Amino acid sequence: MKAEAIKKIAVIGAGNMGHQIALACALAGFGTSCCDASREQLQKAEGFMKSYLPGRVAKGKLKEEEARAAAERLTFTESLEEAAREADFVIEAVTENLELKREIFARLDGIAPAHAVLATNSSFFVSSLLAGSTRRPALVCNMHFFNPALVMKCVEVVQGPHTAPETAALAMDLARKLGKEPVLLKKEIYGFLVNRILARISEEALFLLDTGVASAEDIDRAVVNALGHPMGPFRLMDLTGIDLSYHIAMERYRETGNPLDKPSPTVVEKYVRGEWGRKTGRGFYDYSEK
Ligand code: CAA
Repeated sequence: MKAEAIKKIAVIGAGNMGHQIALACALAGFGTSCCDASREQLQKAEGFMKSYLPGRVAKGKLKEEEARAAAERLTFTESLEEAAREADFVIEAVTENLELKREIFARLDGIAPAHAVLATNSSFFVSSLLAGSTRRPALVCNMHFFNPALVMKCVEVVQGPHTAPETAALAMDLARKLGKEPVLLKKEIYGFLVNRILARISEEALFLLDTGVASAEDIDRAVVNALGHPMGPFRLMDLTGIDLSYHIAMERYRETGNPLDKPSPTVVEKYVRGEWGRKTGRGFYDYSEK
């Protein structure tokens, strides 16, 4: 199957990543259904679409008819049945909870057409942890987008031992149709490419903060102005979610048993306080005014 043959995409989860992945699919011309169990999350996702598309038109980045067509192609639903029953390709982007993902993959397997690919956008669970919940392991892979998904060009496609090469090729092809520059991982590895590299940067930044060497603001300023990164590691953690940083470190620690892999004291403190970054209005920076 080629990406041109994909008529319908289902994106499961309308959170931080899912709402933008769904909109990217609709903008690329695919009939897209965005599903979330939370009505409030769906309303937020729809609200984002309704402000984002006119904003793109006003900026001259999109024609009015293109914006209208994208909005018509994107539907929102609380029903997994409705989202997936005609889908040729499913991208799961629910919270990073393995049991939940397994349950959703098992349900999707019963709902989606037999040819449909089931991809996960998980930041750290490899798809072999999910493939066994389905009767179509050859059609299961990782397709990992970056935040904000409408902007970031990279998509990591991970071909697990169970993934058919054609499935990975289709995910790569679809990513290109979404205007992305995908990369292929020929083996499963914890953290894939980008989060492994990013974790080293964040760990060092947290060490410098936790040991009182410099403030978060100055560490960010140094990384932006000396290394040319678009934003420093603390602003980035606020963007991607400190809850995600916490879970990534905990998952790594569970895997290795190495105490050095535990989340840093600052991350634990912020996680427990519910200061998870932009999504909660406060993280390393305060967003309550915005
Ligand atoms: N959603 C959608 N679009 C957004 C956006 C958002 N939240 N924030 C910015 N944009 C768009 C703007 O509309 C603008 O688009 P155009 O140029 O086409 O008009 C463009 O991005 C630039 O925006 P701004 O000028 O307002 O701001 P900026 O230049 O500071 O860019 C940024 C903002 C794109 C977020 C930039 O700071 C950046 O690239 N930061 C690094 C992000 C990053 O590293 N992401 C990867 C995180 S790791 C991850 O995601 C791992 C994981 O597993 C979840």
